[in-house]
Parts: sequence; structure tokens; C-alpha cells
Amino acid sequence: MLDQRRLPGEVIYHSYADYRDVAKAIKDMVIRGAPAIGVAAAMGVALGVERSKAKTLEELRVEFATICDTLGRTRPTAVDLFWAIDRFKRRFAELALAAADQGAAGLAGIRTSLVEEAQKLHQERRDADVRIGRFGAELMPKSGRVMTQCNAGALATGGIGTALGVIRMAVEGGYRIEVLVPETRPYLQGARLTAWELHQDHIPLTLITDNMVGHFLKTGGVGAVVVGADRIASNGDTANKIGTYGIAVLARENKVPFYVAAPISTLDLSIASGDQIPIEERSQEEVTHLAGVRISPDVRAAHPAFDVTPARFIDAIITERGVARAPFETSLAALAGARDEG
Ligand code: MRU
Repeated sequence: MLDQRRLPGEVIYHSYADYRDVAKAIKDMVIRGAPAIGVAAAMGVALGVERSKAKTLEELRVEFATICDTLGRTRPTAVDLFWAIDRFKRRFAELALAAADQGAAGLAGIRTSLVEEAQKLHQERRDADVRIGRFGAELMPKSGRVMTQCNAGALATGGIGTALGVIRMAVEGGYRIEVLVPETRPYLQGARLTAWELHQDHIPLTLITDNMVGHFLKTGGVGAVVVGADRIASNGDTANKIGTYGIAVLARENKVPFYVAAPISTLDLSIASGDQIPIEERSQEEVTHLAGVRISPDVRAAHPAFDVTPARFIDAIITERGVARAPFETSLAALAGARDEG
């Protein structure tokens, strides 16, 4: 894993040989961003099973449950994490059924198949990003500014990114876009990660502080806002990085279209609205300190890591299967039930 806590100052990779370390890396945000968390969880489950000392299917079954539970208790909001774990639970059940009575060979088969499943899931993320990028690019202005929030780029997905994938595909298609990047306090995913990614790719950007968002949406020639998502409810309400809700409201006020770009795995059609999305509370220290230096007196601070943008502020949700518009109950359900096209 590329350590996202250290960017942009240092480019450091970690290798993990124990699923518990993968879980800790997700919790500590070595890796972050909903789809990337899903890929990491998949890799973590596969790693845990591959390295397991279980001698029988029953022992492996017990250990598998512990592995899934450990990885599932890392970050609560991004539904891709639970989507990936559920997919592995289904795959394990299938494999276990086929491996019953096969002894050691059966266990070896499960181990290999789960590693392959994790690699497949990662490749699917990459493919999904490209498709999201193609659908989304058509909605971007041919020239001018596009605003994003947080980091919904390659670092957050393991592909080309969702929101940044849309921007990358538009730029590749010849659009002359400059990206407005809010710094995204308190964890600074915008300043540290999105600015780094775009700069590496020579995509023009201007970094702004979060409190400049309204000013730029009103006066800055912004043609569209495109953000990622951590969980999208059946009605289209979308949880994303804290600050997204404010951007969406200000975008509507200033008649700037507001788009969410996310894979189908970020849909949670089991919940009716955003009210049911669990919001992660992170440490107060991430608010009271900047890069380890205290910037406030010793007072209480709040740190909800995400907010929910009501669907009425969202012009469209861009997925790898197409673009959903209001009423989202029907458009999202149709996309969720559709098949991927090549
Ligand atoms: O706390 P983070 O950095 O994991 O939050 C990330 C976001 O909110 C992203 O916008 C979202 O996960 C989409 S990433 C393609």
C-alpha cells in the first residue's frame, strides 16, 4: 500500500503479511477512499485465508468469520467495504461446498480461489473507473473550471478514480479543464492527495481553502462540480467527505450542476434514505492539530468524517452502468439490476 498519510511529502509503500495489519492500515487511513477500502478489504480477506494455519474446513470456516469481522470493524461509512466482505462470504460458501470431503486439496483450492477473487475484484474496480469516466466526461464543460472535493482519484480506487476519472477522461478527450480543489479540512485529502495526483498528471488545478467554495461557485466560472461517494441510499441521498453537502447547496444556489461519480458497489439499496447512513466520528486531534502541531487551545472538537447530501441537490449520479437522474429510486434500482457492458 502506498501510505496516503505521508503524501505528498514522502512516497512510502508498505507490504502486509497479516490481515490484522491490513485492517489497521484501513482504520489508520494508510489507504482510504471507498472503492480502495473495498479492494484492501478483499485483499485482506484473501491474505488472511492464504496464511491461515487451519487444517480442516471447519477450522478455516471459524477463522474466515474472524477475518471478515476484523476487517468489517475498520471504517463504518464506506459501503464498499461491506460489499467486498459480503462478496467474499458468498464466494467462500460456494468454495467450501465444493471443497467438502476433499481434505487438504480442498483447502488449498479455497486459498488460491480467494486470492484470484481479490485480484478479479481489483481489476473490476479499474474497469468500472474507466466506464464511469467515459459517461461522466460527457457531462463536463468543454472548457473552464470543475470543482471536486476530497480525493476521489486513483489513490481512492486503485484505478483512475471516480470523480477524478471523469476529469481525466474529459482532459484526455481534449476538454480544457482546470480543477478547483478544496483543501478538505481536517484531513486535507484535497490539498495533500488530489493536488498531488493532478499535479503528477499535469492537469491544471487551483487549490482553495474550504471557505472559498461559495465565493468560487458564485464568481469563478465553475461549469460543474463532480465528487465521489461513500454510500448512496435508494433515494439518491449520498454520503461523502464532510463539506460535500455545503458544496452541493452552494452549487444549486449558483446554478452549477452537481454530479456524484461512484461505482454500483457504492449503492446501498437496503436503506431508504441517507438518514440511515452511519457517519464515522474520527478523532478530535485531527481537528485540533495540523501535521502533529496543535492549532487550537485544549478544547473539545467535533469530527464527523462525512455528511449526507440530499438527493434533491444532485443533478446526476454517474456509475459504470450509466447515468442516473431523479427520481433516483427508479433510476438507481434499474442500474443496480442491469448488467455490465464490456
Ligand atoms: O475518509 P476518506 O478519505 O476515506 O473519505 C473519502 C471520500 O469521502 C471520497 O470522496 C469517497 O470515498 C469516494 S472515493 C472514490
